[in-house]
Amino acid sequence: MRFSVLALGAIVAPAVIVALLGWVSLRQWERSAELLRREQARDMATMAAEKVEMALRHVEDGFVERLQATLAAGVESAALDRLLAGEPLVRALRLLDTRGAILYPRAASDTDRAVARRLADAALAVRGAPGRRTIVLDGERWIVVTMSARAADTLLAAFAYDADVLRRDVLAASLASLESATIFVVVDEQGRPVWAPASLEGAERLLSVAFRDSLPNWQLAVYQPAGSAPREAVRRQVTIFMAAFVVLCAVIVAGIAVTWRLMRRETEMARLKSDFVANVSHDLKTPLSVIRMFGETLEMGRVSDEPRRHEYYRVITREAERLSRLIDNVLDFSRIESGRRRYDIVPTPVEPLVRETLEAFAYPLAQQAFKVEVTIAPDLPEVPMDPEAVGQALANLVDNAIKYSAEDRVLTVQAHVEGDGLVLVVADHGIGIPRAEQVRIFDKFYRAGRSETQGRRGSGVGLALVRHVAEAHRGSVTVASAPGEGSRFTLRLPLADGGAHGDA
Ligand SMILES: Nc1ncnc2c1ncn2[C@@H]1O[C@H](COP(=O)(O)OP(=O)(O)OP(=O)(O)O)[C@@H](O)[C@H]1O
Ligand SMILES: [Mg+2]
Repeated sequence: MRFSVLALGAIVAPAVIVALLGWVSLRQWERSAELLRREQARDMATMAAEKVEMALRHVEDGFVERLQATLAAGVESAALDRLLAGEPLVRALRLLDTRGAILYPRAASDTDRAVARRLADAALAVRGAPGRRTIVLDGERWIVVTMSARAADTLLAAFAYDADVLRRDVLAASLASLESATIFVVVDEQGRPVWAPASLEGAERLLSVAFRDSLPNWQLAVYQPAGSAPREAVRRQVTIFMAAFVVLCAVIVAGIAVTWRLMRRETEMARLKSDFVANVSHDLKTPLSVIRMFGETLEMGRVSDEPRRHEYYRVITREAERLSRLIDNVLDFSRIESGRRRYDIVPTPVEPLVRETLEAFAYPLAQQAFKVEVTIAPDLPEVPMDPEAVGQALANLVDNAIKYSAEDRVLTVQAHVEGDGLVLVVADHGIGIPRAEQVRIFDKFYRAGRSETQGRRGSGVGLALVRHVAEAHRGSVTVASAPGEGSRFTLRLPLADGGAHGDA
């Protein structure tokens, strides 16, 4: 637990800090990229607006020059009509005197006259300014120029552009050729686009700059084509960064989990080993002290009657047998652990082996009033095995059945052939094993939790030994058990000698 908290503090916290820093710097980068882009767009727009105005000024100058030349001969309608015919950009031309009277065209309507007067007023109201200005009247843009004609006072020439020609010859001509990632759009005073080079579908408006005097109130707007904003690039970066971070975190967490599991297994193994030492020492001590006590009692000659004495001898023999079984178990286990355990496989009659093994438990079985049911199939063949090892395995199973029985003391031992294998069954009506522990009881040193609390001693290597013997014979050992109902261990050994391995 402490380890995992530590690992979290030491690994995950710095990772989170790195992620945060990365995110913050990406955000800052995004902001400065945005700023830079706006600045660039503004510069580009100012340049483009200047270009448009220069182009407009150029055509305007040309027209004014030609008009001036025409007027040199006086205000002549025919000459002016001819001039206008050659100027598609100019939609309308009015020549006025300083009082606002229309000199050209001759056939002017009343509204024309009214407009002309207002134009003259507006143009003359601005004093001191040079001779050209743009005046917007009723939504119409007029360029008013002061001129002189032969045999006349100062004249005012007012002309309006044809919108389509303006778009085509001036706006398109000067803006379409601009090499830029951005889109330039000319918008009028109401914000309606007057000219746009391409579809604005999905484009985002960045900013707009105003034209100066030649196109008053019009603006040049800058649009960003869809998907090209640096923000999107930054967003992609953020996504990649986040994905990488998630992978990193996953790897770290997996690493912690694996390390933690390894550590837990190590600690568990260390605990099991120390339990093992304690258990073995205790198991050695108990029979020894019994032997010693009974031996001393006999030595002192205090037991006078023969049957009692006989009984004491039997106890000493039984405890000595228990001791040697325990020592055999531990020694075999240590041989298995170091890979030195060898098996001598010979054809062995099964019945005598089973009976001999049970014989060794006759005393505890009788003493605890066990009901013993032994069923050995009649004509069993001889089975290739290491009789000593299988006997020991069987003894361990019987020992467990006795040790882990409660009030209902029944021991069932069966031997029969099933398929191509010999099946040895040892079953009891004892305390049983919880399902979750049934796999682990075959692990070395493992003792199911409950048995300890119920005061049954053991070193936890018995079943590990049984499994090793079974596997060395290319057989298997399985358990079926339910807590409170008893356990049934099944040892399977192949009938044919499959070439058992000596040291596994
Ligand atoms: N017949 C059984 N009924 C209930 N629990 C059993 C039975 N056989 C084994 N167990 C459980 O499986 C555990 C492992 O058994 P195993 O024989 O390997 O060790 P042990 O009996 O504790 O010690 P020993 O090495 O002295 O045999 C036991 O501690 C016990 O909890
Ligand atoms: Mg045991």
